[in-house]
Amino acid sequence: MISLVVLAAVARLVGTAAATQSDPLPLPPMGFNNWARFMTNINESIFVDAAEAMSKNGLLAAGYNRINLDDAWSTKERAANGEMVWDPVKFPNGLPWLTAHLKSKGFIPGIYTDAGNVSCGGYPGALHHEEIDHETFTSWSFEYLKIDGCNMPDHSEATYHEVYGRWHEILSGADHPMILSDSAPAYFSGEIAGTNNMTDWYTVMGWASAYGQLARHSADILVYPDGIYGGGSSWVSMLYNYGQEVRLARYQRPGYFNDPDFLNVDHPSYTLDEGKSHFALWCSFSAPLIISANIPALSQEEIDYLTNKDLLAVNQDRLVQQATLVSSGQTWDVLTKSLENGDRLLTILNKGSSTGDLTVSWESIGLSSKALRRANYVSAKNLWTGEQVKVSVKDGGITAKAIPSHGTAVFRIAKSISPVTPTGIIFNTNTTNCLTDNKSGHVTFAQCDGSDAQTWRVRPHGNINSLLRPDECIVDAQGAILSRHSGCRTDAWTYELSGNLINNNSKLCLTEGANGAATATSCGYELNEQVVGLPVGVTVVGITV
Ligand code: GLA
Repeated sequence: MISLVVLAAVARLVGTAAATQSDPLPLPPMGFNNWARFMTNINESIFVDAAEAMSKNGLLAAGYNRINLDDAWSTKERAANGEMVWDPVKFPNGLPWLTAHLKSKGFIPGIYTDAGNVSCGGYPGALHHEEIDHETFTSWSFEYLKIDGCNMPDHSEATYHEVYGRWHEILSGADHPMILSDSAPAYFSGEIAGTNNMTDWYTVMGWASAYGQLARHSADILVYPDGIYGGGSSWVSMLYNYGQEVRLARYQRPGYFNDPDFLNVDHPSYTLDEGKSHFALWCSFSAPLIISANIPALSQEEIDYLTNKDLLAVNQDRLVQQATLVSSGQTWDVLTKSLENGDRLLTILNKGSSTGDLTVSWESIGLSSKALRRANYVSAKNLWTGEQVKVSVKDGGITAKAIPSHGTAVFRIAKSISPVTPTGIIFNTNTTNCLTDNKSGHVTFAQCDGSDAQTWRVRPHGNINSLLRPDECIVDAQGAILSRHSGCRTDAWTYELSGNLINNNSKLCLTEGANGAATATSCGYELNEQVVGLPVGVTVVGITV
């Protein structure tokens, strides 16, 4: 446990480090998985056909080089010697043949198991068979393992930790370690755990992000309608997972990716704009891009956006930052992050029901006001159209025009306006209320509304000001949070992997009190009222529990 925490701490202290070759998975994985499209109707042809189509339609060339089997590939019983057995009807040529075939076509094969007694779909789980199953999967030449978390002996965090810890030991001790995609956190996220207490979720995220290269953190994205499942709106499902992802940005770092689940792009309830938004958001997050769709039947429009080189470059950027929210309101969400070459990403999501324009100010993107004063223009590329735009600094910001309902605009802003200051909402990840400044200097938590009173700059020394009151910084005034001019000298804050924002003087934690009060109180352990999200780029210090 101790070494785990140290590992996480070291990784986070170099917050702006780029991925390196020594990371087992330096960049987010890209590829195909059958689950959200075919569920338990898994079989050999799905993978053979997907591989063939991906080779021809440009997906493989664009980087989608993983093919992952999900649940229900095995028989319902193990062999007499305890080994897992592939279903000979579904996989007539066998799994070693399939992995060899996929590799010969340039793909890396992955497989699924469940850490518990029985998989989510009712097939044998790996509990107490970890060693033998690892040997089997290795001998079949799989290089990536998704470990689900259904049907564990009990639902305690300690049990999950113990069982996944066993897997971590086996995998990290192996000669050719497999990539571990770990679903444990999903079983502690609110909607599944059925509790409003997020502490266990964050605890599991802490170790899961150190054990695996990616972790499924919340609900399943809506599966394809098969008459039983998959009805309803995939837009709602996608936005739900997006909303969970933004709560967890502090965990992502080179070598570990938060996984908001598959790109279920051919779900028939999506409009084209919605599918494109799904993709653009996952790219902005540097999230895994695992398509779960009927690949041979994808339309040219779908292939075109899935292979958009500029968006894929954002996803595969070596800083692998997860874009965070600059602002969030009824209609618009605005996100930013930095890219390795110093460029800044701007992603604007229209959640509303009609087409609209939005201007995002230079300050809220985090651009340097000094550099802005020296420049005449800001250059940016519209990543959907490829158009280069030159915007006069005097315009005050960048305007995205005619963003359709449920569409997303994405700009890559050239680095000349650097250095950037991490800028965005500070929000309670339980209530999702935003820290809100006020002309009077009385700071509260309130529903996010997209205003400048809720967009905060985290300055290099840890002083924090809102865009509403750029010359005043938040202070802990004997337990009350105020914004004051003197605060920009006296009150610096430290952000921890636990999600606590700690005042360096009082050592107290920012807390959402009753009725939206913003207070500073003694720091507890990952408490609902004290875990906050901050803009990406702020150094995250490891927890020491
Ligand atoms: C869970 C997972 C899904 C899929 C199914 C398989 O629901 O979250 O991604 O693996 O199990 O049964």
